[in-house]
Amino acid sequence: MNLRSRWLAVPGFICIAALATMLSAYSGASSSEGNSPVQPVKFRHTVHVDTLKMNCLYCHYSANKSFDPGLPAMATCMGCHTVVAGSTPGNKEEIQKLAGFWNKKQPVPWIRLHKLPEYVHFPHMRHVNAGVTCQTCHGQIQNMKQVYQASSLNMGWCINCHIGQSNPPFRARYDCSACHY
Ligand code: HEC
Ligand code: HEC
Ligand code: HEC
Ligand code: HEC
Ligand code: HEC
Repeated sequence: MNLRSRWLAVPGFICIAALATMLSAYSGASSSEGNSPVQPVKFRHTVHVDTLKMNCLYCHYSANKSFDPGLPAMATCMGCHTVVAGSTPGNKEEIQKLAGFWNKKQPVPWIRLHKLPEYVHFPHMRHVNAGVTCQTCHGQIQNMKQVYQASSLNMGWCINCHIGQSNPPFRARYDCSACHY
């Protein structure tokens, strides 16, 4: 897609709020809200975050340091799962699948949910360090038996928060080149 020509077609006099409203109805390029693929291993955030009280950053270790939050290395999981084999037949079966990948020295081929188009710039660390919680954007992950995409991730959604319209309110740059360059 030719972003530059689409971009030039946006008349300069349209104010940011109108543009945001206009584009929030557009459901093109980002991954879609509600998206929830079945994963190769049935890993539950409920058990690990809610019951075991693990911090998000224990696994998504670079969310406060880089653009990409990162997915946990196998060794992070196996630190426990060489010992924790599971207490129910269902859990045992899923943990065996995990161990299967580990024994073959392969990472689990997790299916990615949240995805912005290439031409959008999204620095996780800026958001996390400004105090925007993971849940503000990702919903109540700790209650999800299977992760789903809780927000639209479209341009209107981003700008709505950057201009101070979210709850709680935040402020950030909203000139085009903040997110597109
Ligand atoms: C701090 C220890 C710990 C770490 C680290 C850990 N787990 Fe677990 N995990 C557990 C415990 C405890 C259970 C509950 C086992 C039971 O009683 O059946 C569990 C359960 C599971 C289950 C069974 C289904 C479920 O979610 O309840 C899967 C699959 C699983 N873990 C995968 C993983 C993966 C993948 C990772 C790495 C991303 C990981 N675990 C990291 C302790 C851990
Ligand atoms: C024990 C490790 C572990 C912890 C702790 C953990 N996660 Fe995850 N997370 C994973 C794994 C493994 C996946 C990939 C499988 C899946 O989607 O369930 C994942 C997937 C995700 C995704 C979807 C990624 C995508 O593909 O777009 C989000 C969002 C997420 N986690 C947010 C969180 C948040 C927020 C917390 C804290 C409330 C958290 N995670 C805590 C291991 C963890
Ligand atoms: C301001 C909104 C926002 C906040 C806050 C936020 N995220 Fe995200 N997250 C996103 C967006 C947007 C994407 C898609 C990014 C892309 O495609 O470049 C994403 C993607 C992800 C992914 C998938 C990345 C991958 O490589 O598979 C994970 C995991 C994730 N976020 C975890 C977290 C965790 C953990 C936190 C809190 C420490 C967090 N996010 C905070 C908006 C947010
Ligand atoms: C819930 C509020 C919220 C949402 C939603 C949000 N942001 Fe932000 N954004 C912020 C805050 C707060 C900052 C940090 C401002 C600061 O550090 O001064 C920020 C900073 C940024 C920056 C760095 C700007 C600079 O100063 O250089 C970029 C780029 C950015 N966001 C892109 C996005 C994109 C793209 C989306 C949507 C996919 C998005 N944001 C969604 C609140 C949000
Ligand atoms: C806070 C971040 C942010 C800012 C600021 C921003 N955008 Fe976007 N923009 C996005 C995101 C995210 C998308 C991804 C498309 C979607 O799903 O809405 C996007 C998509 C687009 C697209 C592609 C839509 C299509 O039809 O494919 C155009 C064109 C665009 N933006 C133009 C602009 C212009 C012009 C400005 C300045 C007035 C601007 N953007 C400011 C985040 C931003």
